[in-house]
Amino acid sequence: MVKICCIGAGYVGGPTMAVIALNCPSIEVVVVDISVTRISAWNSDQLPIYEPGLNEVVKQCKGRNLFFSTDIEKHVSEADIIFVSVNTPTKTRGLGAGKAADLTYWESAARMIADVSKSNKIVVEKSTVPVKTAEAIERILTHNSKGIKYQILSNPEFLAEGTAIQDLFKPDRVLIGGRETPDGLKAIQALKDVYAHWVPEDRIITTNLWSAELSKLAANAFLAQRISSVNAMSALCEATGADVSQVSHAVGKDSRIGPKFLNASVGFGGSCFQKDILNLVYICECNGLAEVANYWKQVIKVNDYQKNRFVNRVVSSMFNTVSGKKIGIMGFAFKKDTGDTRETPAIDVCKGLLGDKARLSIYDPQVTADQIQRDLTMNKFDWDHPIHLQPMSPTGVKQVSIAWDAYEASKDAHALCILTEWDEFKTLDYRRIFDNMQKPAFVFDGRNVVNVEMLRDIGFIVYSIGKPLDPWLKNMPAVA
Ligand code: NAD
Ligand code: UDX
Repeated sequence: MVKICCIGAGYVGGPTMAVIALNCPSIEVVVVDISVTRISAWNSDQLPIYEPGLNEVVKQCKGRNLFFSTDIEKHVSEADIIFVSVNTPTKTRGLGAGKAADLTYWESAARMIADVSKSNKIVVEKSTVPVKTAEAIERILTHNSKGIKYQILSNPEFLAEGTAIQDLFKPDRVLIGGRETPDGLKAIQALKDVYAHWVPEDRIITTNLWSAELSKLAANAFLAQRISSVNAMSALCEATGADVSQVSHAVGKDSRIGPKFLNASVGFGGSCFQKDILNLVYICECNGLAEVANYWKQVIKVNDYQKNRFVNRVVSSMFNTVSGKKIGIMGFAFKKDTGDTRETPAIDVCKGLLGDKARLSIYDPQVTADQIQRDLTMNKFDWDHPIHLQPMSPTGVKQVSIAWDAYEASKDAHALCILTEWDEFKTLDYRRIFDNMQKPAFVFDGRNVVNVEMLRDIGFIVYSIGKPLDPWLKNMPAVA
């Protein structure tokens, strides 16, 4: 029986290994992690992450050929294939701080593999890493090899949260990079054989190591660039009376452009886009490619601009002050169908409103009160450094309360800000919400989920990203 061990039981390691285990009953898969709480959660009925369809997959194979354990060394030493899916956050200090990937967790995993291995291993980079990481890892492993042979493969993961299970079952492609030597090709084939249990052969692409590593950064940069492009257009739409949904529909009909990832929003979030672009920028700078670095940096600048623009719009619409006013925040996760808040635009928007002394009542169907309080008190980039994940002080942010539902969040509020596109926000009883709010009652829709005409008929003053402005807002000071 082939044995797989995955180091890192997070958003990628957990679902990816569950899908491998389900599709490959003849392979034993063990997911290990240094976090005892995470492993205990995987072993309980309350999984540590919310992902549609994940429970069902885990239920079918947990205890059969899928196991979760903190006994890292034992399972690493027994495995034939080791996936490394640890976090690779942005560095917060030292050389490259604020841009470069912090490979501390990766390096400690590699050193541990070198220490405990007694047989040949295929080591698979599942984490998103800078180009040439495989070479550095290879050096760590072979330097301590005691005659053991290691083959390093790059197998970046392209799943998106909220749709992880369907993405894993039907990937657009599986990418495997490896050395173009006889042993390298053998290792590539061994990993191909795993995926071939359910992925059609023509969707499994093989490349050299560096192309695979760079393709992951490039794919995320391209996706994020589309969102910043449409968000830049949304500002122009508001200034001109065009409607961004109509513009992106018309643009996306061009088969060379395509319709996906053209939804204007309050800004993109998530643990990957910003981190990976910053990493790309850093690699370009290190290679003397200043123009290329500046090109990609602009994608992040526009994203920051979009979040600021939203906050400015809220404040300027409400007579230039939100001080002491209750604002209902609808949604805190970085997108729907996940409880993940890493780099969610809601953090920047809430901090912006708190900076203007608003009182916030936040509702999200999947994010806990503790998580929200922690996010609003943490420094930039600290979220992905487990050492910083300390419990909150009991008071938290005093101007913030957490609501059980959208109706509680909106009661007596002056305004609502929709920051995550949860489906339930489309079908709320907005008449009831309007009746319980202060007047004038504002809705600022950062995800274009509400029916603007219907809400205006009820009496709301509505702002929707990139849509023709409400007559009320036209008379307010311009937002830059
Ligand atoms: P995560 O933080 O959810 O999980 C990482 C896990 O690794 C944590 O549970 C942590 O405790 C564990 N860990 C860290 N060092 C360890 C060590 N030395 N030994 C054992 N366990 C260790 O992160 P994630 O979202 O799963 O992302 C993992 C990687 O995959 C990152 O490089 C990320 O960029 C990439 N990625 C993420 C996504 C996504 O949607 N989240 C998608 C594609 C790629
Ligand atoms: C992304 C990539 O899509 C995935 O391939 C990679 O493996 C990890 O990073 P993820 O961050 O989980 O996945 O979600 P994604 O669907 O890409 O959304 C990222 C952010 O962009 C979210 O905040 C989302 O709301 C926003 N977004 C997405 C838009 O604002 N507009 C869009 O049209 C699409």
